[in-house]
Formats: sequence, structure tokens, C-alpha cells
Amino acid sequence: MAEVLGIGLTHYPPLSGSDEDMAGLLRKALKDPAIPEDEKKPENWPHIMRSEWGTDEGRMAAATHRKHLVAGFDRARQAIDDFKPDIVLVWGDDQYENFREDIIPAYSVLAYDDIEVRPWAQADHSSDMKGRSNVWNEPAETTSIKIRARRDIAKALVESLLSQHIDVAYAYEPLHHPGLAHAFLNSILYLDYHRTGFDYPVLCFPINCYGRKVVSYEGFASPLGDVRELDPPGPQPGRLIEVGAAVARFFAESPWRVALVASSSWSHAFLCDKTWRLRPDTPADRHLYECLQKGDIDAWRSVTSDELEESGQQELLNWFPLLGAMEAVGCPVPNWSQFVETAVFNSNKVFATYGPAAPASADA
Ligand SMILES: [Fe+2]
Repeated sequence: MAEVLGIGLTHYPPLSGSDEDMAGLLRKALKDPAIPEDEKKPENWPHIMRSEWGTDEGRMAAATHRKHLVAGFDRARQAIDDFKPDIVLVWGDDQYENFREDIIPAYSVLAYDDIEVRPWAQADHSSDMKGRSNVWNEPAETTSIKIRARRDIAKALVESLLSQHIDVAYAYEPLHHPGLAHAFLNSILYLDYHRTGFDYPVLCFPINCYGRKVVSYEGFASPLGDVRELDPPGPQPGRLIEVGAAVARFFAESPWRVALVASSSWSHAFLCDKTWRLRPDTPADRHLYECLQKGDIDAWRSVTSDELEESGQQELLNWFPLLGAMEAVGCPVPNWSQFVETAVFNSNKVFATYGPAAPASADA
């Protein structure tokens, strides 16, 4: 029997770049001719958006946003270091990186061996870092980090999930994207923001969060008037709660201490038509955050794919298995959480820590 730690965080790509570029997505949207001119005028924006935008198009506010995010990562990292996990499992989106036209699994386990990753040479598309310097000034050609893995644990997890009627896909090596997709890579880079090293084995568990837009729009921002034929949706949110519960049951009964990490920002401006793709759907995020704080998993269980898509919360799918997992081990209420609100920097971000949950409380 082993304890389970729960962590929620973001993999917000612009945190890798400079403060100068952090409001880049909004600056781009403001040039979109399909967005009404009145909506683009700061005098028509909510107070927080005007205040962050200021007189320098968000450059000063970017430093504050970064400070809050780094503080969140420091707290999450401390929880992981205190827990000393045998493995860190990350739920993250594959944004048309490793999975493309030839196969889109609803979710899968990457049962890789240790992998050598070149963050800046491999992040051109997925993290929009092409031609930009990173905040650590690490050179693209020579920077390489080794990410440890535990294929034995990944295979045992797949076997357990299949026996629990969770029909998960798995892979032993990357398909299209060398290294790791941005959700996983950024999570590791940011948990090691101070570059002291991250030596925990990582198990990547990608989820098809982009659903109807994963292939059609390559899971990324597009101009408002760019209408394409959509793909089928991603997995149902409620199903991912069951997947998370099954994962937690496996680890609670295993000898391995696991840190379960949900990695994503919440509502994304560039996916949210109701806000003209200028800012995230903060009321929708706030509502789910309040439910998360109370441990109201049933409220999350009742969320539909359509509701997530309408609010630009596609990536929030990564958090559903975490909530399901922590409910299954009798620890549905986070012991710490923080909502980092923004209107200018594309997405609200949430940090949370759960447990560690004692094995005795496991609902296994
Ligand atoms: Fe993402």
C-alpha cells in the first residue's frame, strides 16, 4: 500500500519566454479583423483587463503574473520534494504534437524509457518558441535534459487499468514529436524553474483535450473567421474522473508512492468565442474553482464537453482525473490551492495540492 499525492498546476508556454512577449496572444487577437472593433477598445474591457494592459500593453503586469506562477510552482515542488515520490504521473494535453492524423487516442500511457529531451530545439511548434529566447537563456542547440522514466510501473498501470475496464492505449516510443509534448515538458521545466534539477521518474498520460479542434485546427489559436470541418470530440469529462479513480486505486494498492499531477491552465482566451477570444471565461473558471475548493466532485462530474468548449476550457479535461483520483483515495479537498486570475495573459491558472492521502483511507 502506498500514499498518493495530488498536484494541480499549469504548463503555460509563455512562462518560458520573456515578459515582453507574455501578452503576445492578445496582441495578435487585437489584429483579427473578424473581432468587432468596439470589443478591442480597452475602455470597453473589464477593470482587471484594463489594469493589466496599462500603458505598456501588459509588459509590467507580465512580471507580476510570472511572480505568482513561479510561487505556485515553488509550492508544488516543495510538496513533491517533501513527499519523495517513486514516480510523478502527469496528465496533460497532446496538442497535435505526438498524436496526429494517423491516430488520436482519447487518452494513453507513454511507457517510455528514460528520454533525452532538447527543450528549445523541439519546442518550436508546440510552445510557440521559434526564434524566441527562453527566460533561462539556454541555447537551443546544446541544451539537453534527461528525463527519467519507469517503464515497469507504466506497464503495470496499463495492465491494471485494462483489468478495471479502462481501455487505455499505450506507447513505448514517440510517434511524431521528439522528446515530450509541451504539457509534460513545460510541467517539468517549471517545477525546476530554479534549475536545481528534477530527478524524479516521470510517467506521461496524454489526454485528447482539444477534441473537435485537435486535427482540424492543430489544437492551436486561429483567426475568428477561420471556419474548418471539425473532428469528433474528446473523452467525456465524467469518464476521466473514472479514469483518475482507477489510476489512484492502482497506486494505492501498489508499493509505489505516486505524485499525480494535473497539468493545464483553465479557460483559454483563444478558444473562447463568447469573450471574442480576447480573455478567458473567468466566471466559468471561478465556479469550478469554488467546487474544487469544497471537494464537490459531483459538480465536476456533471460538466459536459459542450460546456467546456463554450468556455474555452478544453485543457481543463486534464484536471478531471486528478479530482477523480483524490476522491477515490478519500481526499477530495485540496489542502492548499490558489487561483491566479488574469484577463490579458490568455488563461487563468490554478495551483492545488492534495494529501498525501494515507493508504488506510484508500477506497480500494
Ligand atoms: Fe496545453
